[in-house]
Amino acid sequence: MKIKVAPSLLSADFSRLAEEIKKVEKAGADMLHIDVMDGHFVPNITIGPAAVKYIRKCTKLPLDVHLMIKNPQKYTDAFAHAGSDMLTVHIETISGAKLKTLSSKLKANGVKFGISLNPSTPLAKIKPVLKYADFVLVMSVNPGFSGQSFIPSAIGKIRQLRAIYKGDIAVDGGINDLTAAGVVRAGANILAAGSYIFGAKDQKKAIERIRNAGK
Ligand code: DX5
Ligand code: ZN
Repeated sequence: MKIKVAPSLLSADFSRLAEEIKKVEKAGADMLHIDVMDGHFVPNITIGPAAVKYIRKCTKLPLDVHLMIKNPQKYTDAFAHAGSDMLTVHIETISGAKLKTLSSKLKANGVKFGISLNPSTPLAKIKPVLKYADFVLVMSVNPGFSGQSFIPSAIGKIRQLRAIYKGDIAVDGGINDLTAAGVVRAGANILAAGSYIFGAKDQKKAIERIRNAGK
């Protein structure tokens, strides 16, 4: 599978967001990962649909919007409307029935639907709803902040998931040139990375290192 790299804007300088976006775009980003946090599901607050709408105007790259919020189904219309290409909700925040409805609604609107799970959430939790997902996002840190260390148990989880799931597997949290190798070998093919890419002197090299890590 082709490896795709998704720089996470949470580590960008928000006062110069348009420039930061152009820079990672030129450096070879495949999509932009946008972290939405509500101060309830996670202990941090970031941005909402209004910001996504303006980010949409800055780039043609697909927008991969990661909703770390309670009651995500209340806000998905707004995020889809703002220009999200991919929307991910957490299995910890939504019932199976609501997930099913949401999945068909987003698909009808041409938005790819992802289901994410926290490091402490067992794979068994998402097995019954895998059929509704266009991709799965495996968290390799506890969501809330960028710059945290990779939690190694994500590797086994990705490997087990890859054995039963043919779709895209994304991974998010603590990804750098070293941790990327393990997750790619385990079967992940979309890698979100914040601090490693935005903290790099040479972003092009950083993205290439992630892309080629498992080889
Ligand atoms: C964590 C966010 C991640 C985060 C990644 O809650 O979902 O997308 O920004 O940042 P790094 O790559 O620095 O761990
Ligand atoms: Zn994220």
